[in-house]
Amino acid sequence: MCGIFGCVLHDGSQAAPLIHAALKRLEYRGYDSVGEVTIDGDKLTVKKDSGRLEEVHAKYDLDDLPGPVGVGHTRWATHGRPVYENSHPLVDCKSRIAVVHNGIIQNYLDIKRELESKGHHFQSRTDTEVVPHLVEDYLTQGMSLEEAFRKTVNRLEGAYAIVLTSTEQPKTILCARQESPLVLGIGEGEYYCGSDFAAFLPLTRKAVLLDEGEMAVLNPNGARILKLKNAAPVKRDPITITWDPESAKKQGFKHFMLKEIHEQAQSLRDALRTEQLYYDQFAKKIIEADKMFIVACGTSYHAGLVGSLALAKLAGINARVVVASEFSEEALDLVGPKSVILAISQSGETMDTLNAVRDARAKGATILSVLNVLGSTLMRLSTVYIDQNAGPEIGVASTKAFTSQIAVLLRLASTVGRRKGEVSAKEITELEAELHRVPALIQTILNTKIDEIRRIAEECDAASSICFLGRGVNVPTALEGRLKLLELSYVPAIAYPAGESKHGFIALIEEGFPVIFVAPKDETHKRIIGNIMEMKARGARVISIIEEGDEEIRNLSDRVVEIGESLPSLVTPLVYVVPMQLLAYYLSVIKGHDPDYPRNLAKSVTVE
Ligand code: F6R
Repeated sequence: MCGIFGCVLHDGSQAAPLIHAALKRLEYRGYDSVGEVTIDGDKLTVKKDSGRLEEVHAKYDLDDLPGPVGVGHTRWATHGRPVYENSHPLVDCKSRIAVVHNGIIQNYLDIKRELESKGHHFQSRTDTEVVPHLVEDYLTQGMSLEEAFRKTVNRLEGAYAIVLTSTEQPKTILCARQESPLVLGIGEGEYYCGSDFAAFLPLTRKAVLLDEGEMAVLNPNGARILKLKNAAPVKRDPITITWDPESAKKQGFKHFMLKEIHEQAQSLRDALRTEQLYYDQFAKKIIEADKMFIVACGTSYHAGLVGSLALAKLAGINARVVVASEFSEEALDLVGPKSVILAISQSGETMDTLNAVRDARAKGATILSVLNVLGSTLMRLSTVYIDQNAGPEIGVASTKAFTSQIAVLLRLASTVGRRKGEVSAKEITELEAELHRVPALIQTILNTKIDEIRRIAEECDAASSICFLGRGVNVPTALEGRLKLLELSYVPAIAYPAGESKHGFIALIEEGFPVIFVAPKDETHKRIIGNIMEMKARGARVISIIEEGDEEIRNLSDRVVEIGESLPSLVTPLVYVVPMQLLAYYLSVIKGHDPDYPRNLAKSVTVE
């Protein structure tokens, strides 16, 4: 997730200060590097570097770029670490075309190879750089800039919002989108584009939405939209944005957490897009290792538990999951040069996880990591890493990072399984196909279940404690449901493997005690029904998250949240966790807390 802003202003105006101000409003979308380009007649000038906006500005004075047309970008790295060369804008061989991009171009390696064989010289390790070079290539074939851009974008596979400026047409900005967001702003003879309304809200409240598969041409004559496929013109009336600047950043959601819960359909698609070659590198190291440990904290630890189970089931790998702060006590003595440590951390800066990794490195272990922040300390300590591609997570309570971590870990387990031949190729292919169904299922929950979940939260408001129970791969889901709920609502919550609950926890149950069951229709179904009956018989108020049409559990429960379709067991945590994230969110709001900033917690825990 990156932030983009572009503007075409009146002759004589200067775009640079406006771009700077817009990037400030967009910084929440990414902040590991920043860059601007402006066009002044036949002069294209780029200023960019790694670091946050104000650091880069202090170094280069972003505001003195000349010209009325320009584009800015604040980056959340996906391809290529956040260093100068990989910062946007990226240019063609002759520095006549500059491009910024938000998203992932999946087939960039093929295009890059093709262009390199034609003599194009690449300066970065980004996927984005293929765009200016391909446009350049089409220009040399005699196409107009608009046609060259359209043809280029039609060759891209993946998710993108792309904005291009060029000295070829110095008063024009071209932009296009597929999956990644991009909106147009209509001023008084001035035109803007941005990743969201926040980008241009102080400049205009008139906006035009760009749909998937469309491009736009912005110049002093107006903003023209056309279909990428066939250049057919599209007529669309502007809408008026009434949001205040703060809610524009949250895209109309009341809190970042709610926005991030809603982003999960997209962040999962992005997580599933990571190239297979990274998984193959991981798999090789895991298969060669004599021991494997997974280390993480909090929510990432719960994702690790799912990952460990998947590795066992799909690949016959025994990966011991250790809470990072306990690693030196619990596992370090067992670590040696043939060990593999898989560290999972959204921020890549959690001190406990880094300490475990440093200790293991000192003993010669190979460090693999799953992380969401390129350039983080964890990335630098890792032998190989996989980027979750979830985009910045601002709400302190982790939501979209959790689901994308699980998606990465399931793909990893299936890759190891495939390479080891533990599970049939057919089974693995099926599992991978099911993973791709998850974003749509999550979207359905978000579209249809919110009111129901809010009502359940209201009914839980008076509870002095709440319990979460699950079995198998959904023990971690129950643990995660409980962590979300207690950290946001401050209600003491408990989570257990459902079967273990009768060995102690059941003593707490009295009339009306809320017990939440994570109960998909998988191989644990029969046994969890037994656990539900045990709780019900003692007066528990049973709330079950079930597969649609599961009459057996519905009849035993006081409330249910139904999940649309049947899924393979290993995939269920990705979907079944969403109602629990929403429950925690609404309970926090009902109690008058701020779910984005729960008390005593920090987004990145950089102390031991
Ligand atoms: C809970 C939460 C924390 C983090 C934990 C690890 O909602 O966000 O438990 O999961 O602090 O953080 P990372 O993944 O950044 O290492």
